[in-house]
Amino acid sequence: MRNVTADPVAAVLADPTAYTDENRLHAAFARLRATNPVAWVDVPGYSPFWAITKHTDIMAIERNNIVFTNSPRPVLTTIEGDEQQAAMGISTLIHMDDPRHRVVRAIGADWFRPKAMRALKVRVDELARQFVDQMVEAGGECDFVQEVAVNFPLYVIMSLLGLPESDFPRILKYTQELFGNDDAELQRGVSMEERGLALFEMFNYFNEVTASRRASPTEDLASAIANARIDGEPLSDIDTVSYYVIVATAGHDTTSAVISGGLQALIENPEELSRLRSDPGLMPLATEEMIRWVTPVKEFMRTAREDTVVRDIAIAAGDSVLLSYPSGNRDEDVFTDPFRFDIGRDPNKHVAFGYGVHFCLGAALARMEVNSFFSELVPRLKSIELAGRPEQIATIFVGGLKHLPIRYEIS
Ligand code: HEM
Repeated sequence: MRNVTADPVAAVLADPTAYTDENRLHAAFARLRATNPVAWVDVPGYSPFWAITKHTDIMAIERNNIVFTNSPRPVLTTIEGDEQQAAMGISTLIHMDDPRHRVVRAIGADWFRPKAMRALKVRVDELARQFVDQMVEAGGECDFVQEVAVNFPLYVIMSLLGLPESDFPRILKYTQELFGNDDAELQRGVSMEERGLALFEMFNYFNEVTASRRASPTEDLASAIANARIDGEPLSDIDTVSYYVIVATAGHDTTSAVISGGLQALIENPEELSRLRSDPGLMPLATEEMIRWVTPVKEFMRTAREDTVVRDIAIAAGDSVLLSYPSGNRDEDVFTDPFRFDIGRDPNKHVAFGYGVHFCLGAALARMEVNSFFSELVPRLKSIELAGRPEQIATIFVGGLKHLPIRYEIS
């Protein structure tokens, strides 16, 4: 028997509803950071794990990818979910470790480098303008999440992949069902089979994309993935589809959560909005602060390959550790006044994009999208206020707001 007591406070990490109440969540994280930063979590339905809540420990574990691997448990799911994923054989970048991870990551990497970003900027700016125009057409009131924030990043990522606009609504539905699948309003059904259906349909859709790009290659990321070779061999069908799935899903709900959560923060901190309006040069720092503030990816996990220690706590080979990014990004040892939304925060060494070899592949794209959207919106905004209660999605993985009713005047 393991000589360690499970910490009931850390159970919030496996409770999707806890993420709908930021005060409750952050009170629990603050307590863990102060009293039990490497906490054992053992709750019904989940294999037990260690909760890591300090910024410095999260970075140290991510840096040490020899001892702490992504496989076999890269994210927190229920025991049933773990089994289902293993049975489907899904293998995306986040499921892999070096040396294979490095080679597979390289296939898409060029599409996310600064040169590619500069080429994409024109399209991203154009989309930002279209979505702000759409807000004007909506007549001064809208649910910002559903009408704007979920669509803009989807359009960007689908444009990068090279998929037709007529398919966007399907992809939107699949990704929302996959990531929002602990939320009663968004989930497709309650059973594991029904939840798996969304994944299955997404796989079928992307299998067709692979076939068409192999038959007639085009100049887009979908074609680069479909026609990639490793040691002269094409990727297997499951690996090809997994690549699309990680790009489409990772590139979408994350960024939309930052845009909507960032807007809510600006509404609730009007002095910060005025500051940004009078000094647009602050936009890169404001973007970074919105990403820290929202931290849409709630966790990733690592598993110890050998016996090791974190902060004098013995971690046995085979134990999993959960890296709590929202907690790391409010760590009072790293951030001055961490609960203040400060668009000029500098330095801002947040861990919202992770760290180390798995550092978010799309970080430059996400930053560009957030920057582009607010650079378009803020100068045109005459007034803005909440028109109802913002609501957070129930999730333990990726999420943010699901409703943000707003009233505004835009020129
Ligand atoms: C603000 C928005 C975003 C946030 C907060 C975010 C966050 C993250 C985090 C925390 C990780 C794991 C890092 C780690 O394990 O150390 C990750 C990985 C990844 N992200 Fe993002 N992400 C965002 C946007 C995007 C976008 C726009 C894309 C574009 C396609 C993207 C693609 C990926 C991919 C492919 C990985 C896996 C990388 C690997 O395992 O090597 N992300 N992201």
